[in-house]
Amino acid sequence: MYELEHYPFPLKPLPYAYNALQPVIDARTLHFHHDKHLKTYVDRLNEALSPYPMYHTWNLEMILANINELPEQIRRSVWENGGGVYNHQLYFDSMTSRSTSPSPAFQQAVISSFGSMAQWKNTMKNAAVTLFGSGWAWTVQDDSGQLKILQTANQDAVFPYRPVLLVDVWEHAYYLQYQNRRADYVENWFRLINWDVVSQRFTP
Ligand SMILES: [Fe+2]
Repeated sequence: MYELEHYPFPLKPLPYAYNALQPVIDARTLHFHHDKHLKTYVDRLNEALSPYPMYHTWNLEMILANINELPEQIRRSVWENGGGVYNHQLYFDSMTSRSTSPSPAFQQAVISSFGSMAQWKNTMKNAAVTLFGSGWAWTVQDDSGQLKILQTANQDAVFPYRPVLLVDVWEHAYYLQYQNRRADYVENWFRLINWDVVSQRFTP
């Protein structure tokens, strides 16, 4: 998905203005989330990889999918911070202030996997709200093309599944604005989904 990027990994700017997602996500939250949290993941990933030029041509998917090939001293840091970069880029790119709608092919896949868009939303929301601690709720595609909903902890990658859509339920994603009301954040987040991007990630 970000196959052209390799070390040194950039802090990609948000694809919209910091205030574009208000009132669902306020500018202050996005500034902290992108400029502080994501930047830290980017910096720490680059720091860990810096002494190992043999990995400087690997993109992030290659690194995360082959994490056990990396030297043990940096494996954990690269997994956590590389996952942090990868997951956050997907997350920020999954949102928009524009009005978009899912492609017919994606809607068909949702109906085939979950029965209806409403059922999908309920299941996705439930995964996000019930995740214990910090992590992500995902809609992914498996090898057979079916859609599934998963939870991952911390910054774990979702490979070998193909990521389609994800919501960040670390407290840093919502606490400044919603405090402990994670369910309200998640419910509102559905209004920000960039269905053009989601439909492109999906392989019919
Ligand atoms: Fe986050």
